[in-house]
Amino acid sequence: MNIAVFASGSGSNFQAIIDRQKSGDLQVNLALLVGNNSKAQCFGRARSAEIPTLHMSPSHFESELSYANTLLAKLSESKIELIVLAGYMKMLPPQLITAYKDKIINIHPSLLPLFGGHGMYGMNVHNAVKESGVKISGVTIHAVTEIYDEGPILYQASVPVYESDSPKEIADRVLVCEHDSYWRVIKALADKTISIKNGTVRGSVRK
Ligand code: GAR
Repeated sequence: MNIAVFASGSGSNFQAIIDRQKSGDLQVNLALLVGNNSKAQCFGRARSAEIPTLHMSPSHFESELSYANTLLAKLSESKIELIVLAGYMKMLPPQLITAYKDKIINIHPSLLPLFGGHGMYGMNVHNAVKESGVKISGVTIHAVTEIYDEGPILYQASVPVYESDSPKEIADRVLVCEHDSYWRVIKALADKTISIKNGTVRGSVRK
């Protein structure tokens, strides 16, 4: 399975996927890293792992359509079969979501539908979790649809939230869980033990 990972920042989830692929746990082809910030650490991680990179920012294009068409052409050139969003902070153009229907997945650092939606990304999520007083948080991996953070859920795993936790401590605990989760879902999709068809998930990911 040819995979493109989209990332914007540090890319620790991307690295965890690379490590599982290198160890042989995950037998897929990491064909492309797509990012909107060429100075971000995820680009360095791709270079170290000899994964081709594509720097694409919507602001470099005169219209969303020309951005989408260029991106689609590049993904098609690399014969991409699955798009894995790993801390990608830009909205995807609707043309991409249509062209890769059922073939885009995202990781979110909370138990959706809690703490999702507009403005809920990165530390904003963990600040809101702390503020709310919930006793568990976790990770959600879901298929991407036109509605932000609302695609069908493929996998969730929880972590405890302790009274003394700072938002950063919650974030760190969730991130460890993310690193142990994303590759399992990618493997299950590659092995076809889980599938997404017309927005419906069949099968499950076993730990
Ligand atoms: C991860 O916690 C990921 O779940 C989150 O951004 C972080 C990226 O970290 N994504 C979102 O908040 C998307 N709504 P990383 O760059 O170290 O993988």
